[in-house]
Amino acid sequence: MAIKPILRMGDPRLLQASEPVRDFGTPELLALIADMEDTMRAAHGAGLAAPQIGVLSRLVIFGGGPTARYPDADAVPYTVLVNPKLKALRGGTESEWEGCLSVPGMRGLVPRYRRLRYRGFDPWGRPIDRTVEGFHARVVQHEVDHLDGVLYPTRIKDLRKFGFIEELFPGQSLRDD
Ligand code: NI
Repeated sequence: MAIKPILRMGDPRLLQASEPVRDFGTPELLALIADMEDTMRAAHGAGLAAPQIGVLSRLVIFGGGPTARYPDADAVPYTVLVNPKLKALRGGTESEWEGCLSVPGMRGLVPRYRRLRYRGFDPWGRPIDRTVEGFHARVVQHEVDHLDGVLYPTRIKDLRKFGFIEELFPGQSLRDD
């Protein structure tokens, strides 16, 4: 399909709440998902939310294995998740370095729930219901935040733990995205 431009922090569309998807399995929805997958792969992202390409629909994609940006990430299966609902599970929070294709070149230390149940639908309306933890749980929380107009820098507790990848991790070969 097509690689789309990714909106960057400062674009007001990234601060809006997205609308639920009403019709499943339509050519329009499948084309949007194909564009999102092409765009995420080209940018070596761990996930992508529809509003990041300017479509305010409650749809995220993530996973597909370790990426150049997160080489040590646990393998997360490639997932298309429509109209997601999250429920934090017992297990508290943990903080890890996080980035975003809409905040290129930067990382911040972000607390997220460690364990999570998420539910939603695949592109054809079939239910998804998973209980996950660690990096998988983090990616889902990050992507679903986009659907509520939340970017990760607003979740950083200590803004001293926010900066450019090259300065935070000198000598490491993390992509400057
Ligand atoms: Ni993001």
